[in-house]
Amino acid sequence: MSTIWFAGPSSLHFPKGKPLPFVLLGEKYAIFQNTSGYHALSDVCPHRQASLSLGTVKGECLTCPYHGWQFAGNGEVKTVPAHPLQKIGSKFKADVAAISSSCGWTFIRPLESAQNLSSEASLELSEGAKQFFATPPGTFRSISGTFDWSANFSRVVANGIDFAHLPFVHADSFGNVDYEEVEKYQCIDFDGGASSRQIMVPPDNFQQKLFRLVVNRGKKNTVLGTVSFLIPNMTRLDLELGFGARMILIASHVPVSEKETRTYWVMHRNFAKLALLDAMFFKETLKIFAADQTIVESQTAMNSTDGQQITVASDALEMLYRKKMRQLG
Ligand code: FES
Ligand SMILES: [Fe+2]
Repeated sequence: MSTIWFAGPSSLHFPKGKPLPFVLLGEKYAIFQNTSGYHALSDVCPHRQASLSLGTVKGECLTCPYHGWQFAGNGEVKTVPAHPLQKIGSKFKADVAAISSSCGWTFIRPLESAQNLSSEASLELSEGAKQFFATPPGTFRSISGTFDWSANFSRVVANGIDFAHLPFVHADSFGNVDYEEVEKYQCIDFDGGASSRQIMVPPDNFQQKLFRLVVNRGKKNTVLGTVSFLIPNMTRLDLELGFGARMILIASHVPVSEKETRTYWVMHRNFAKLALLDAMFFKETLKIFAADQTIVESQTAMNSTDGQQITVASDALEMLYRKKMRQLG
């Protein structure tokens, strides 16, 4: 696991002028951005071990909240305010993890592997992977948030690409209890992930009626749903709602520990773009995660039960996810 790039927060998740506290596989980081990009410092200040993520970003440096030491992106101490004339030696350094960004998202390699790597570790996304992040032409309004799970990240990923649970878990939003059958679907494989597409019949609930009224002028519609994954920890749900209306939910599911996951999500929509409506879409997105939460948290960690699960045709995309994860080693 330690040599893998994990997707982290998107650019939309970073607060202005402050570092973002981030946990990956039990290690805490303070991620900050300056003109040269993102930097992931160990959250433990090498002076007296205060949390650097409580600090502030000033110019190119991250400033520790306790005694104001300033750290450059490579972890080097630039200033010790209590001793302005002291020469700062190279042992004055915070630990750093490798971090890269692409397509508006950050990617992080755990600390231990970063130390073993030669300095220039950068991430190369395949063409297919870049498509994973793409939105179709036109303007989209984007909102972002996080969601925490007491579950292994691979279960959260598998949930994000699963069609068969929709009528059972999401009957109050986009799942339709009258259409439980999952049509045979094709998995479209690309370097780093895969996707599949399904025709979905939205239920006749209030939300869908409202949507039809506002966007579809009252006409009944089917929805094209495409779910995708990007190994090791991202999912995408792309809903083509009819009349060009599109809603795209992209998420990275970060393993905080073996049994805890933090999802960083971004939702893009090209309809109802008023800022005023953001709160409603935010609430609806969290409602979808909340509906999944109890079930996903009831599952055991994926790895320990590999031989004990019965698999059917509708699990094809998840099986491809697991295969690609095994290939990662
Ligand atoms: S603990 Fe960070 S500067 Fe002292
Ligand atoms: Fe779900």
